[in-house]
Amino acid sequence: MKTIVISNRKGGSAKTTTAVNLASGLAEHGSVLLLDFDTQGHASIGVGCDLDEGLGVHSIFSGKTLCETFIPTVHKNLTLSPALAFFDVYEYFDLSGVLKNRFKMESIAEFFDYCVIDTPPTFDALLKNSLDVADSVVIPFVPHHLGVIAVGQMLRALYQSATQNGRKVADVYILPVMYNPHIVEHRESINKVKKSFGEAKLLSPIGVDINLAKQFESGLPIVLDSKRSKGSNDYSRCVSELLERFQEVDKCQVK
Ligand SMILES: Nc1ncnc2c1ncn2[C@@H]1O[C@H](COP(=O)(O)OP(=O)(O)OP(=O)(O)O)[C@@H](O)[C@H]1O
Ligand SMILES: [Mg+2]
Repeated sequence: MKTIVISNRKGGSAKTTTAVNLASGLAEHGSVLLLDFDTQGHASIGVGCDLDEGLGVHSIFSGKTLCETFIPTVHKNLTLSPALAFFDVYEYFDLSGVLKNRFKMESIAEFFDYCVIDTPPTFDALLKNSLDVADSVVIPFVPHHLGVIAVGQMLRALYQSATQNGRKVADVYILPVMYNPHIVEHRESINKVKKSFGEAKLLSPIGVDINLAKQFESGLPIVLDSKRSKGSNDYSRCVSELLERFQEVDKCQVK
């Protein structure tokens, strides 16, 4: 199983939009588990599910198993562990390593080809639990000055978390979102990211498309919508690019 964490501490940078469409796009290629770690629960809404106020992915922090939180979604290959809307991370003293432990105890990797985790825009125990199990981290960012800074901050958090836990740093993919090629600031910001963090980490940008906002109303991720649009084409390409990159990483590991 490959675990892909979608993260950026900057709010509103299309983490959830990306999580929902990557998870659904990957479901066309294998079995996928989507963990909605953000208590806003927008990823759950995005795959056609209601927010659960009784049981959700956050229930693992109060002794539940991960498996008992699973529910079906709009896609037969996509299983969701929804957000628990009223979970308060600050009510708990130590939440470290809980998700990693659940993965191991429940042999989650045997049941799914991919796990996609949507994370909140904070550097808290939820994000740390996610980074603990990450093989890859996708950082969506809006190509503005602060967006570029946020990518750097996210990378530092990632390296810090890996060092503290003595684990290999996850593969990083940086995804420009809400991109408009006619805006100079957007083009310049992408060039800054290339120069500062390396072109190899960059994925092709996702353009602005209002259908990406509207998909949450229907609960049908845009990559699964038969009506093609700029947003669905962009995210379908993103899924293909990621699959290619995963293959390259796997080849290098075999060597
Ligand atoms: N490419 C796009 N074109 C147009 N609107 C978009 C695009 N990507 C995302 N949006 C919209 O931008 C808003 C923020 O996106 P989203 O909720 O995915 O960000 P987020 O990073 O998950 O936010 P948060 O930090 O609150 O979790 C949403 O209203 C979403 O529908
Ligand atoms: Mg979100």
